[in-house]
Amino acid sequence: MEKGSLPPYTEEPLHGVQPAWKQRRVRRSRGLRFVGLAALAFLVYAQWRQLPTSGSSSSHDITAQGLSVERVQEDLAVCAKLRSKPRDPIGLGREKNARYIDGHKPTLIKNATVWVGEPVEGTSAADARQGKGWSWISADVYLEYGLIKRVEKDIDLFSVSEDVLVYEAKGRPLTAGLIDMHSHAGVDSLPSLWGTEDTNEMSSDITPYARSIDGIQPDDYQIQVIKSGGVTTSLVLPGSGNNMGGEAYVIKHAVGKLDGRTEVSAADMLADPDQAWRFMKMACGENAKRVYGKVGERGPVSRLGESWEFRHAFEQASKLVREQDDWCKSAELDVNNVKGYLPQQLKWESLGALLRGQVHLNTHCYTVPDLEAFVDHTNEFKFKVRAFHHAHQTYLVPEILKRAYGGDPPASAIFANTLWYKAESYVGSPYAGKHLYEENLTAIYVSDNPVLNAQHVVFEAAKGYRYGLPYHAALAAVTTAPAERLGFAERLGKIKPGFDADVVVWDSDPLSVGAAPVQVWIDGTAQFEDPIELNKPTPEVLVPDLSLAEVKEEEPSVQKTVVYTGISKVLLDTEVKIEDQETYSAVLVNGKISCLGSCTSEVRAAKSDKSAKVIDLENGYLVPSFVAFGSMLGLNAIDAEDVTANGPNVNVFSRAVDGLALDTKKINVAHKWGVTRAISAPVFTGPASHHGVSVGFLTGANTALEPGAVFADDVAVHYTLDLNAKEGAGTPSISAAIGALRHKLLEAVTSLNETVKDPFSEPAYLRKVISGKLPLVITVQSADTIAALLKVKSEVESASNSTIRLAIYGGAESHLVAKELAKADVGVILAPFLSCRKAWDERRALVGAPLNNGTAVDALLEAGVTTAIGVEQDWVVYDLALYAGIAYKNGQGQIGEKEAFGLVNGNLFKMLGLKEDKEASKEHFVVYEGSPFEIGGRIRGVAGGRGVVQVFE
Ligand SMILES: *[C@@H]1O[C@H](CO)[C@@H](O)[C@H](O)[C@H]1NC(C)=O
Ligand SMILES: *[C@@H]1O[C@H](CO)[C@@H](O)[C@H](O)[C@H]1NC(C)=O
Ligand SMILES: *[C@@H]1O[C@H](CO)[C@@H](O)[C@H](O)[C@H]1NC(C)=O
Ligand SMILES: *[C@@H]1O[C@H](CO)[C@@H](O)[C@H](O)[C@H]1NC(C)=O
Ligand SMILES: *[C@@H]1O[C@H](CO)[C@@H](O)[C@H](O)[C@H]1NC(C)=O
Repeated sequence: MEKGSLPPYTEEPLHGVQPAWKQRRVRRSRGLRFVGLAALAFLVYAQWRQLPTSGSSSSHDITAQGLSVERVQEDLAVCAKLRSKPRDPIGLGREKNARYIDGHKPTLIKNATVWVGEPVEGTSAADARQGKGWSWISADVYLEYGLIKRVEKDIDLFSVSEDVLVYEAKGRPLTAGLIDMHSHAGVDSLPSLWGTEDTNEMSSDITPYARSIDGIQPDDYQIQVIKSGGVTTSLVLPGSGNNMGGEAYVIKHAVGKLDGRTEVSAADMLADPDQAWRFMKMACGENAKRVYGKVGERGPVSRLGESWEFRHAFEQASKLVREQDDWCKSAELDVNNVKGYLPQQLKWESLGALLRGQVHLNTHCYTVPDLEAFVDHTNEFKFKVRAFHHAHQTYLVPEILKRAYGGDPPASAIFANTLWYKAESYVGSPYAGKHLYEENLTAIYVSDNPVLNAQHVVFEAAKGYRYGLPYHAALAAVTTAPAERLGFAERLGKIKPGFDADVVVWDSDPLSVGAAPVQVWIDGTAQFEDPIELNKPTPEVLVPDLSLAEVKEEEPSVQKTVVYTGISKVLLDTEVKIEDQETYSAVLVNGKISCLGSCTSEVRAAKSDKSAKVIDLENGYLVPSFVAFGSMLGLNAIDAEDVTANGPNVNVFSRAVDGLALDTKKINVAHKWGVTRAISAPVFTGPASHHGVSVGFLTGANTALEPGAVFADDVAVHYTLDLNAKEGAGTPSISAAIGALRHKLLEAVTSLNETVKDPFSEPAYLRKVISGKLPLVITVQSADTIAALLKVKSEVESASNSTIRLAIYGGAESHLVAKELAKADVGVILAPFLSCRKAWDERRALVGAPLNNGTAVDALLEAGVTTAIGVEQDWVVYDLALYAGIAYKNGQGQIGEKEAFGLVNGNLFKMLGLKEDKEASKEHFVVYEGSPFEIGGRIRGVAGGRGVVQVFE
């Protein structure tokens, strides 16, 4: 693409009145007097292309108004382009994919289990919606010239090109390449550096003229990481700081020679080199007023002002469009009519194109008022929205979406369960996808990379399925649905002849826990030369679980006495004697396991006692409840809202127990999802940074004064040595922060014999640390900083002649020093569990198969490090069991199910030296129907040490 030129449009023959300048020419060359529309179209085309035509005016001709005829003719050609209506690019009927590079060999993928992306022929629309007619089929897939050519059983090698490359899929699942409809890959490159951060053009709130393609860095390694998750296409949007952010571009994740391309350029990455459609990003709500609002200086400072900014911009663009249309009409009648050239304003050009229906608009809007105001704008200025993004409240107001201009309700691009981080995301539901589906609206799962790592966008869809969105709709939400909204319905998202050959072969059902691609093709070219394939059992027959569509958001009932029957697995460390048998019953009295086994008489007694609930399970699991470590639970309700928070502790050392605030929305959700205990430390600068003493509390408690609500006043002493360390008082550098910590610890050693004046002061806690009575937990990602920390540990230990109990929180690069950590008996709490290499100090994290052989958890466990999974963002409480499941399923046999639960429970207690009360295992547990490690596992009961069980019926 030539940057700076207007994007190409499909040329269409001119309709309507013949322009005067043509009439004049026709008069001059009489033979053309009666030519038809086709000839006229050619003429316009020729003018536009500046081809010499017989009788064309010389560059010196001027109109009656003194304008250059040549330039007016150029402007008239622009008029034709302004009027053109893009159409979705065709799929079938192409000989070659325009992105195909000559010489690339065809590929035959043998023996795959294929998800076509549409139901079998003949399925009625109503049946398809019900999930009927959709299935995985056995087929071979033949790719040639960058296109899918054949999808058939047993394609004969003799029937395809001789130079074919054969890939044996061994029955594994094959889908179309995934599409992430909300990404900042390339413009918000990773690891984050100021110099490569080009997400938002923040010189102004209204920048429809800015273009993401001007900042896309093809060498952003995250583009490769994302592809390793099966994502072949992304819509790269400008950020959401501005009300009007600018133009967006759809790219494929193939860059340079290693990916089979001939050049390294953003233009070469464009999914549609002809650019039939243009794309634009807008955003409403909190961001713009936060970024721009300066009372008395500039707006917007409120949503009211934002609406004005939108309307004012649309007014400018509408005015331009009207002036252009008037000019074109007038000039087409007679070039002598117009007094000036075609009005053109680069500033409003793209917005004008939106009003002309040539641009697919994607707008970030979370809340009901934002959605309503924006839908109002669509009707006032008559433009369409393809999708609302971050549309977490759309499920509450389907009628508002349905009244958007154009009669085609926008889709909702959402996360599955990323909530509570700002006021806008405080209202939302993981069941949104299901609700939207029931309203005949479209849910699309997106990453907002790097907000979520787009490598795992399929996990968002899998969770959508877990929360009741039917299987076919969940897969559609990352394939066909975004393809349709982007205008690529005939090219992307399906495995059918005529579609682009973007294909993923998976190691397991893509909507299962831990699924990873084993190979990815883009435009028919394999993308990984030596992909790591995890040693996993070959997937069994893939059958969508239709029963999950019945899943509903449920409020549990609270029971004292409950009987569960049909438990097939017990993964508790319990003293309760379990007989060796196929299924167990569990009798819970006052929220405590009183019998586990056949419990015949107890079950009988409970059944006769009407106050006891009896729940019969199929494939029940009784497992330890989970512990949330390092989150904001108990310390804020909404991350971005200071009034809801205990506050930062950059310059002071405090105890979390003194700021504990219980009974928040997210603590209650955590409890519902089996997280019955949390250990939270005071915040240093913001979420996932810590300074002070952590507290251990029960998530089920309403106040800290309830008996047992705080199970440990002081769990550990926390400091932060990640990039935030440089924000600390007197520590402008990492070396200063390390030095300050060493100094404090050594001071504690020398002051050991002094009397303690305040037992709750920092020095008092540090004395406990150096004498091994209280663990020290350091928030740190970098392997280098961990190395420095290990030195401090041994220096202080030799001065004090005792052992410090040290644990790492974060640990993105901990695998690089795994042996040393094991040797020093230092535990690691991974936060995030799967690093996205977001920050500079995380850049060497392992991203897993097919790029790496496992992730940090595998390397740490292999080295013998006590390892746990932390909570760096509070919504992770929804996913802790699934994360343990990823560690289990992708661990290549290294750990069993019980050890996997240790990652979210027992290992934390172990590394922190917390004594787990023997009775506690009888009071802290979760009852599942189905495996907790599978998408379909459902919680049927949670006990959290409060004498009751939350029962889900
Ligand atoms: C296809 O893969 C399945 C599963 O691995 C295997 O049992 C079968 O033999 C394969 N068929 C062929 C033709 O390779
Ligand atoms: C959704 O579409 C189906 C099938 O067309 C229809 O039966 C149903 O009433 C629609 N539901 C809503 C809420 O519009
Ligand atoms: C503390 O006092 C004891 C005895 O009074 C002494 O032996 C020891 O060296 C002192 N320790 C420190 C760290 O000053
Ligand atoms: C350090 O502690 C060990 C074991 O407690 C003891 O044997 C040794 O004498 C101590 N050394 C010093 C220098 O205090
Ligand atoms: C990956 O790691 C596992 C466990 O350490 C090992 O058994 C396997 O051979 C490794 N695979 C590759 C391809 O390196």
